[in-house]
Amino acid sequence: MFEFYLDTADATKVLQLNQSLPIYGVTTNPSILAQAGLGISTVLPAMDKALGGSARMHVQVVTQTAEAMLVEARQLQALPYDIVVKVPATSVGLAAIKLMKAEGITVLATAIYTAQQGFLAALCGADYLAPYVNRIEAMGSDGVGVVADIQTLLVRHHFAAKLLPASFKNTLQVMDVLQLGVAAITIPVDIAEQMMAHPAVQPAVDQFTQDWQAVFGDRSVVES
Ligand code: G3P
Repeated sequence: MFEFYLDTADATKVLQLNQSLPIYGVTTNPSILAQAGLGISTVLPAMDKALGGSARMHVQVVTQTAEAMLVEARQLQALPYDIVVKVPATSVGLAAIKLMKAEGITVLATAIYTAQQGFLAALCGADYLAPYVNRIEAMGSDGVGVVADIQTLLVRHHFAAKLLPASFKNTLQVMDVLQLGVAAITIPVDIAEQMMAHPAVQPAVDQFTQDWQAVFGDRSVVES
């Protein structure tokens, strides 16, 4: 099943978008939480409520050593939610991922800018891989290409890790990544809203309404 996440700390927006979209869960990072001024003690219960108690939530560690990250991961896993622990795919982070996987903790390797980073994180047992599409492209490289390369490596090496690309600034980036057949994605609220919008849609719907009412007035379709 495809996993569609929103990359946000805004539970009100998640509640609103979940009415139209099958939201699998939410992803956060330290910057998102800091910008919202909300910690996980606020965000996790709010998201859980917004998504009806069945949401998968990705929360990033904020410590700097593998041992400290493992302690954070254990604390996060003990919370009464379906939590995936996000760990930056640095050398320290890879060490932390190995420790976490030895304890059966579900892990997402984040801050992936290269295919080799993605490969190594998968080799260490990461359950999810989050390449940063827009950030890679903002540096003049091929963000979608990095995702494609990791996807190829996952298949060729029979890794179970799921690609969960992150960092999007437009719908074209999202569609390019979806074309690759990734297992999951996380996008900001504004991009999700843009995916449902097109300037021609509402005028078309308005024309249907106008044409109908001109002939049938307020009658419903079964009354016509
Ligand atoms: O969690 C990673 C993702 O949120 C990064 O997105 O927009 O800060 O590049 P962005």
